[in-house]
Amino acid sequence: MGSNAPVGVFDSGVGGLSVLGEINRLLPHESLLYVADSGHVPYGEKSAEYIRERSRNIAAFLVEQGAKALVLACNTATAAAVADLRSRYSIPVVGMEPAVKPAALATRTGVVGVLATTGTLQSARFAALLDRFAGSVRVITQPCPGLVECVERGELQGPHAEQLLRAYTDPLLEAGCDTLILGCTHYPFLRAQLLAILPSGITLVDTGAAVARQLRARLTEADLLAASPSEPPQFWTTAVPASLQDVMPVLWGRNETVRPLSV
Ligand code: DGL
Repeated sequence: MGSNAPVGVFDSGVGGLSVLGEINRLLPHESLLYVADSGHVPYGEKSAEYIRERSRNIAAFLVEQGAKALVLACNTATAAAVADLRSRYSIPVVGMEPAVKPAALATRTGVVGVLATTGTLQSARFAALLDRFAGSVRVITQPCPGLVECVERGELQGPHAEQLLRAYTDPLLEAGCDTLILGCTHYPFLRAQLLAILPSGITLVDTGAAVARQLRARLTEADLLAASPSEPPQFWTTAVPASLQDVMPVLWGRNETVRPLSV
């Protein structure tokens, strides 16, 4: 496997672009392949078995394209499928989970809120994460149906997004949370709208930058860091390419060609 081979990244849809941006900033020499499984979004309300199957198909496609490493840019897919993919591939497989550890260190009130999908919050991996890192901090979980769909449409602000965000954050604020974990890769795109409605002094934490650092560590360890400048990123979607292409300027900052993928 050559070190100039690409890194394969995927999510249920466009959320993983928030992680792809962090990878691109930290590792500008890496060539990136991105699959948005938008034909099957949202993952958050689907069974773990369904998500494992989707993840297997997408990972197989990325490996066929020559990926030297895989990144699950999705908390829900990590909870359901990272162990399965690690058992199938010997290349580095990087997953992600809600930032409980940094949030537990950051809180001053001792109460932390987690915004994430139902699938993530109900997973055994999330329970293990709390056992390991929550310590004496009180962690309140909040599933957020509807937010992923807003981001998929490129609707990052406006009355509908605002109404959902208020409904999901009000109970957390009332319970005394001063730190909110954005435990789904779609939610960092709603940061501006969130900051507009939250009282000042609330800390928002997400894991995109940590995933990029973890990828760098895994590639370094395997002697797979790209040595020469990268190829431009390539994008695929399992939905109609136009729908992703239309939101790329908002979510990725520029127009990109998106190819259809049937897996
Ligand atoms: N972006 C995903 C995550 O990080 C999943 C969103 C969804 O499809 O429900 O959890």
